[in-house]
Amino acid sequence: MRRRLAILGGGQLGRMLGLAAIPLDIDCSFLDPSPEAPAAAAGRLVVGPLDDREALLDTATGADAVTYEWEGVPAGVARLLAEAGHRVDPGARALEVSQDRWSEKSTFSELGIEIPACAPVATRAELRDAAAQIGLPAVLKTRRGGYDGKGQVVIEHGDDLGSAWSELGSADGGLVLEERIAFDRELSIIAVRGRDGEIRSWPLVENHHSGGILRLSRAPAPEVSAGLRARAEAHVTALLQHFDYVGVLALELFQVGDRLLANEMAPRVHNSGHWTIEGADTSQFENHVRAVLDLPLGSTAARGVSAMRNCIGEPPDPARVLSVPGAHLHLYGKTPRPGRKLGHITVTARDLDDLEASLAQLRG
Ligand SMILES: Nc1ncnc2c1ncn2[C@@H]1O[C@H](COP(=O)(O)OP(=O)(O)OP(=O)(O)O)[C@@H](O)[C@H]1O
Ligand SMILES: [Mg+2]
Repeated sequence: MRRRLAILGGGQLGRMLGLAAIPLDIDCSFLDPSPEAPAAAAGRLVVGPLDDREALLDTATGADAVTYEWEGVPAGVARLLAEAGHRVDPGARALEVSQDRWSEKSTFSELGIEIPACAPVATRAELRDAAAQIGLPAVLKTRRGGYDGKGQVVIEHGDDLGSAWSELGSADGGLVLEERIAFDRELSIIAVRGRDGEIRSWPLVENHHSGGILRLSRAPAPEVSAGLRARAEAHVTALLQHFDYVGVLALELFQVGDRLLANEMAPRVHNSGHWTIEGADTSQFENHVRAVLDLPLGSTAARGVSAMRNCIGEPPDPARVLSVPGAHLHLYGKTPRPGRKLGHITVTARDLDDLEASLAQLRG
């Protein structure tokens, strides 16, 4: 019998999960509010809101497992599906915690994972107190709903507190103020846990953001000491075990000297793991599918070196990209809009010299 997988959300992450499922002859269905959802290319698309009971049950009927590609899926949905006899992985608790920056940070702390100094903020007076306690510059973020740097402002001076409050003070779910970290670099670690508890993690990735959006990832991250790697693995392992997690989890980190501070986690496949499609023995997408369907996990070892560049706002010229040695183009079939992730390019190479040469050619 063909295995069936239901995926909540039909964006590019869903599309790449669906593409990874095809060679395994796994039949995917997706739920997304948009009839133009990118994942429609890789399976059956049910169009409807993600909290609509009927649409959810339609998507999940006959599925061996239910998962999601968007962490905004209401946690109640996982419970609703569970009541209808469906198993949803990763579970509702990981989803809930990752939807609220304050619970997320508290969980990191409880598990002994270092975080930037931070405080929850619900009123203008609390913002002033938090700024006095944490110091400036600091970053004010909405607790819920932020992505790609949306819902956050940097507060440089005490004079900026009023305008930061005017901008974000009315956000649902409150705010959190956190110390702005003068990091040496940003890293992420992505790991997968199977139903039997086996954990595998991909090499650490170095991430470059601008304007709050991920632009470039390098994998494996250069110059990672054994100690740093071991600590990152211990952090992600602690989280996976804490949530009795099944599937792929990403943890974003700031490196300051030999310190690692956790920024946030994502209970799903992650943009900084797209390089694994061509750059690792098994991609994050395939291992997520394997995990939630209780299949054996594949090797997460890197093959050579890779760099992944996001295509944001404007689509790239395919002929130009494909003329670059080692370049792999992924277009998501989305309508261009400023700031929108339309695709990505992964360049793979045997060594760093070849990788740099291809990246230089890609920049033109
Ligand atoms: N405390 C901080 N100190 C320094 N830089 C920060 C801090 N918080 C966020 N940033 C910068 O802003 C980026 C986006 O922040 P963050 O990951 O918290 O938000 P997001 O909108 O949820 O992003 P994502 O697209 O990863 O979901 C970070 O990758 C980092 O470059
Ligand atoms: Mg982030």
